[in-house]
Amino acid sequence: MSSVFEPEVVEVMDFSKADRSTETQLSAEEKREIDAEFSHYEDKASVGLEALRIVQKHRGWISDQSLQAVSDYLDIPPAQLEGVATFFQLIFRQPVGKEVILFCKSASCWIMGCARLQARIEQKLQIAPGQTSGDGIFTLLETPCLGDCDKAPVMMVGEEMHRNLTEQSIDEIIDNKKRRHADESTD
Ligand code: FES
Repeated sequence: MSSVFEPEVVEVMDFSKADRSTETQLSAEEKREIDAEFSHYEDKASVGLEALRIVQKHRGWISDQSLQAVSDYLDIPPAQLEGVATFFQLIFRQPVGKEVILFCKSASCWIMGCARLQARIEQKLQIAPGQTSGDGIFTLLETPCLGDCDKAPVMMVGEEMHRNLTEQSIDEIIDNKKRRHADESTD
C-alpha cells in the first residue's frame, strides 16, 4: 500500500522514564489534548490520527492497549484506527528508541548517495533498518520522500530535519545526540 508521508514534528518521549504503553485508559492530560483537537475537525473519526499522535507523544509508541484506549475514547472501531496507524508512518506500532531516525530512501536522496550514508549509520549504531540501538537511544527507519529533495540526502532525527548529509555530519549528529542523552541521564 502506498503511504502519504507528512514531514511534521515527531515528539518521542523518553520511554524509559514512564512506560505507560499497556495502560488501557487515557490519562486526563491525553484526553485534554485530544479534546482540544475536536474544534479543528468535523467529527470524532477525523480526530483519530491526531489522537494517536498525542498518545504516542506521551507513551512513545502505540501498543494494542493504547490503540484500544483511543478507540474507546473516540468510539472509533479499533480496525479503523489500525488502518490510520498503518497508513501514516509516523505512528509507531512497536517500541522505538528515544530518537527515531527517519532516513529518506527516495529518488533524489538515492542519487545523492544515501545508500552509503545509511551504511554509515548502520555501522556506527550496529543496527539495521527497523532496529533500535543497544543503548535504547536510536531507532532507524527508512522512509519515502521527506519533501526536502533539493537538499538531499536528508533524514529526520526526532523533531529535527538534517539536510545535505555527509558521513561527517552523520557522525556529528549521532555523537551529539549520544552526548546529550548521556548528560541527561547523569542529571
Ligand atoms: S527524495 Fe529524499 S527528501 Fe525527497
